[in-house]
Amino acid sequence: MTGGYKEAKLINRQLAEVCEEKKIALGVGSQRQALENSDYHSSFSIVRKAAPTIPIIGNIGASEVAQLRDTSSIQKLADMIQANAFAIHLNPLQELVQPEGSTNFRGVLNGIEKLVNKLSIPVIVKEIGAGISFNVAKKLADVGVTYIDVAGAGGTSWAGVEILRKNKSSWQEIFWDWGIPTADSLTQVSELKKEFPSLQIISSGGITNGIEIAKSVAMSADVVGSARPLLQQLINYGKKGLDQLINDWHSQLKGAMFLVGALTIDELQHTAIQKVS
Ligand SMILES: Cc1cc2nc3c(=O)[nH]c(=O)nc-3n(C[C@H](O)[C@H](O)[C@H](O)COP(=O)(O)O)c2cc1C
Repeated sequence: MTGGYKEAKLINRQLAEVCEEKKIALGVGSQRQALENSDYHSSFSIVRKAAPTIPIIGNIGASEVAQLRDTSSIQKLADMIQANAFAIHLNPLQELVQPEGSTNFRGVLNGIEKLVNKLSIPVIVKEIGAGISFNVAKKLADVGVTYIDVAGAGGTSWAGVEILRKNKSSWQEIFWDWGIPTADSLTQVSELKKEFPSLQIISSGGITNGIEIAKSVAMSADVVGSARPLLQQLINYGKKGLDQLINDWHSQLKGAMFLVGALTIDELQHTAIQKVS
């Protein structure tokens, strides 16, 4: 979620320590800054030091990938944190709304394909809060992407963040809520599992409790993710508070599974929804 500036080291260390204890995967924020200089490399690498056993995910934006000449720079970013997977975020809405944003995405699919073929670890393609459509997911699956994080609308709005940052009204305000809601995006992308059975779908964007995790799994998500609610909990209540929130979500997930009669995550994913339809 973060990295590349001084204060990020402490946040990332704390997030990593809690994730290690809970055995939860952790994705760092965009590593673009680390391509420019080595000043804050430790704000990223601290994550692997603090969490030696969990899956760690690297991160870079689509506009960097669109300009990619060779993949060695991204492999270095992955090696910096001994990543188990590398995420590419698609953020056209954020780039559109940002004053300094770049809307030049030409070549991005080609760059993604190169990374899928050349990186030593799997590539995850994700949105950042506006969702992924069936058509985009199909293009990604066709070039070999096997992990898609829908990161749909309904949670953090990066258009909203950029609009607030501007502090004056602008034509972009109308895009605050733009995007495919998480549940809708999940429904669209999961259709692809018929053609690509090995596709792994990550549900995120507005996940704020264990029932939403259960719903995501019942709608065929393989992994569920959350960003702002967990970061906010850490900042407001420290590691203890974050630990408690994750415990609560775990209990809520188990409670929902009990109520639909699903003994395992696999049963929740494959049978619970058929029982009610
Ligand atoms: C503080 C913060 C920083 C983020 N930075 C990144 C980033 O650098 N790269 C990325 O792919 N997503 C980033 N995200 C987006 C999240 O991965 C996620 O897709 C989005 O916030 C929606 O999830 P949420 O509703 O749980 O916050 C960030 C989110 C937050 C809250």
